[in-house]
Formats: sequence, structure tokens, C-alpha cells
Amino acid sequence: MHDFEVVSNREIADGIFSLVISAPKLASALKPGQFVNIAVPGDASSLLRVPLSFYRADAEAGTVELWYAVVGDDTRRLSQMGPGSTSNLLGPGGRGWMVPEGTRKALLVAGGIGVPPVLCLAGMLAEQGVDVDVCLGFGTASKVVGVDEFRALGATVNVCTDDGSLGTHGFCTDPAAELLGEGGYDYVASCGPAVMMKKVAAAAAEAGVYCEVSLERMMSCGFGACNTCNVETVDGMKGACMCGPVFDASKVVVF
Ligand SMILES: Cc1cc2nc3c(=O)[nH]c(=O)nc-3n(C[C@H](O)[C@H](O)[C@H](O)COP(=O)(O)OP(=O)(O)OC[C@H]3O[C@@H](n4cnc5c(N)ncnc54)[C@H](O)[C@@H]3O)c2cc1C
Ligand code: FES
Repeated sequence: MHDFEVVSNREIADGIFSLVISAPKLASALKPGQFVNIAVPGDASSLLRVPLSFYRADAEAGTVELWYAVVGDDTRRLSQMGPGSTSNLLGPGGRGWMVPEGTRKALLVAGGIGVPPVLCLAGMLAEQGVDVDVCLGFGTASKVVGVDEFRALGATVNVCTDDGSLGTHGFCTDPAAELLGEGGYDYVASCGPAVMMKKVAAAAAEAGVYCEVSLERMMSCGFGACNTCNVETVDGMKGACMCGPVFDASKVVVF
């Protein structure tokens, strides 16, 4: 358990917030793809924590940045925590990205609020000198996040929106499949809606490229005690909070 203090909490796109917290021990411990489970104060009847992936951790500054969408009561209360507010969280949780050694060119595919763990991964790959192409999908332009951050890391970014208000009109799985068809990749990673990850996994399998997906299942305990987060895999049911959230896509039966 880590206590944390809010450094900043601001809206970066329509209904999407960037939360920076001060939690020095956590900032040194987090690995890309892992998550934290946040207690949001203000409602005694709300017993569950909010699991969130992180975008970046700065061990020197002792800070962690998370991006989240306001979708219900807990995330709404989270968006109201101003600088100086305090609470606690559990983490680092789960198993993060396991990029195969020797990876030289990666394709990353993220949809909506699936961007943060993929952007975090892109940062790690950039540090390792891996060539990164990115396909991002959003409902509409006002919900777009992460494009500048991916580009700042040197990635080539393809943006798609469902309504055509920014970038290519359509789903980001189409350019992703085209890029995979051109070849040259040795690693694919994806986070976003289940249907998107399923398509990405199928395209990667067809191209013969190793693929990981981050399955952000609904969670209750967040530490392996309740089975809420089960994922059906070829090796049986696996809890996303302990065995995931990142899985080898070829092992996942139900995305
Ligand atoms: C490992 C993990 C990492 C996550 N990372 C992020 C992140 O980086 N940014 C982010 O915005 N969200 C992330 N989520 C989802 C986030 O935890 C939920 O949106 C949040 O808990 C909703 O809480 P709430 O009380 O505001 O909404 P609720 O009232 O609990 O739910 C509102 C709506 O969202 C749906 N919902 C809730 N949780 C999920 C879920 N896990 N998957 C799909 N639908 C859900 C509910 O069915 C409901 O329709 C992550 C979830 C997991 C398990
Ligand atoms: S959330 Fe309880 S077992 Fe995973």
C-alpha cells in the first residue's frame, strides 16, 4: 500500500484526465504495463478501488502520471481530487509487457483510453532503440490523446476516428493489418476495446508476429482473491489482476 498526494489533475481531452501523483517508492517500482488500484475518497458506500494503468513514472521526481476517462461515480470523484489531496493505492499490480529480447521493430495499436499503457510501452521501446509504428483509434477528435507524446518518442503515428473528425475515417485495425501485411515487425502490442484487440491478435497471428494484449477486465479485489477478472485462456482461467493484465495474445480464448 502506498500513500499518495495529488500533484495535478487536469482534463486533457473531452472527459479524459491526466493525474500526476507523488508516490516516490511506487514511482521506482512500476514496470510498463502494470497497474495501480486507487482508493478514491468521498463516498463511504464505495468499497472498490479504481484500477488504472500508468502512462509514465519518474523515479527521480517520485511521481507517476495516469490518464483516465470519467465513466462513473469513482472516476468522477477522482476527477475532483485537486492538488494536495491525499489517498492511498495498491500496486504495482500484475504482470506488464514482456517484450522479447532482440525486438527491432514494433507495431503498437491502442484504442481510446487503452492509450496510457501502450504509450508507456512506447517510451520503454524508444529507450531500447526499437523502431515503433503506432495505430490509434478514437470515437471522435475531442477524445484523442497521446498523438503528440507518441510522435515525441519518434514513433510513426496513424490516427483513426470512428466519425472521421480527425485522421483516417474508420477503425485503426485496418491500417494495423495493412502494416502487418507489409512485414518487418517482430512484436505487436495492443490495448483498447476487446473487439479491437481480437482483430489485432488475429492479424498478428496471420503475419506470424508475437503479440501481447492488455486485458483491462473489471476488477474487484485486484490481488487474486475474488475471480472477478478471469480471462479464458488455452491454459484455463487466469486472473487478469495477477496473471495479466498483459497476456500473450495467442493464449487468449475470450478477449
Ligand atoms: C488493469 C486495468 C487498467 C485500467 N487502466 C485504465 C486507464 O489507464 N485509464 C482508464 O480510464 N481506465 C482504466 N481502466 C478502467 C477503469 O478501472 C474503470 O473505468 C473504472 O474502474 C470505472 O470506475 P467508475 O466507478 O468510475 O465507473 P463504474 O460505475 O464502475 O463503471 C462505469 C461504466 O464503465 C464500465 N466499466 C467499468 N470498469 C470497466 C473495465 N475495466 N472495462 C470495461 N468497462 C468497464 C462499467 O460497466 C460501466 O458501464 C483500467 C481497468 C483495469 C482493470
Ligand atoms: S480482481 Fe479479484 S481476483 Fe482479480
